[in-house]
Amino acid sequence: MLSLNNVTKVFKKYDKNFVAVDDLTFSIKEGEIFGLIGTNGAGKTTTMRMIATTLKPTYGDIKVCGYDSVKDDSMVRRCLGVLYGGDTGLYDRLTARENIEYFGRLNGLTDDAIKKQMDYLVQAFGLQDYLDRRCGSFSRGMKQKTSFARAIIHNPQVMLFDEPTSGLDILASEDVLNFIKQCKKMGKTILLSSHNMQEVQELCDRALIIDKGQTLCTGTLNQIMEQTKTSSIKEAFIKLVKREI
Ligand SMILES: Nc1ncnc2c1ncn2[C@@H]1O[C@H](COP(=O)(O)OP(=O)(O)OP(=O)(O)O)[C@@H](O)[C@H]1O
Ligand SMILES: [Mg+2]
Repeated sequence: MLSLNNVTKVFKKYDKNFVAVDDLTFSIKEGEIFGLIGTNGAGKTTTMRMIATTLKPTYGDIKVCGYDSVKDDSMVRRCLGVLYGGDTGLYDRLTARENIEYFGRLNGLTDDAIKKQMDYLVQAFGLQDYLDRRCGSFSRGMKQKTSFARAIIHNPQVMLFDEPTSGLDILASEDVLNFIKQCKKMGKTILLSSHNMQEVQELCDRALIIDKGQTLCTGTLNQIMEQTKTSSIKEAFIKLVKREI
């Protein structure tokens, strides 16, 4: 459903080449949650942005539901739901409902289809209480849940979640995690980046540990722990990044 083959991204920084992502290869099946784990600046968001067609890979290719991210970029965007952590980019002067509907229309949905999916998402995220309030006055958690609903209003097959719980309190994080689990049950293909190793341990089937653009280890969580002779993903991650293995 999602595959990256030898994907490399080179940025020009002060006339020098800087390799942000180096020869990255992995694929994710339906119903699978794949973790992209790395320190700050490792290349996670750059990878997500290449999959989302915002950036073009310098080398290599990316396929989403059979479509090429460069040649068939508009089809790729139809198949994708993308949620970045941090600034959610909602329109403050629109209500949650208007923000979500607007994205639905941008994705070519009919009013009927939007209504149907909206009803489901409002239930799933408990948006009832603030659906018709303007987003400008929302708390961080309310914004993130609204953004979540907006990202998947078109019921995409492949979902990219870049630090989806960053800045959320325990209850709001729990809602988001439960929703990601629900997406997995629905057979979605999910790429998740997170700095929270407990979250990774709880959610991910497989993961890839990336540092300075390079793949340090990949496999099921058990395989990663076996290879690093550790008993948690947190320990495995620290050992790998500190090059103690
Ligand atoms: N548009 C750009 N131009 C030049 N360099 C960039 C650009 N975007 C990202 N970079 C660099 O690429 C590297 C990887 O950045 P990226 O945002 O992908 O990291 P990340 O793994 O998402 O980190 P974080 O955990 O902090 O979100 C960083 O060194 C960053 O400065
Ligand atoms: Mg990032």
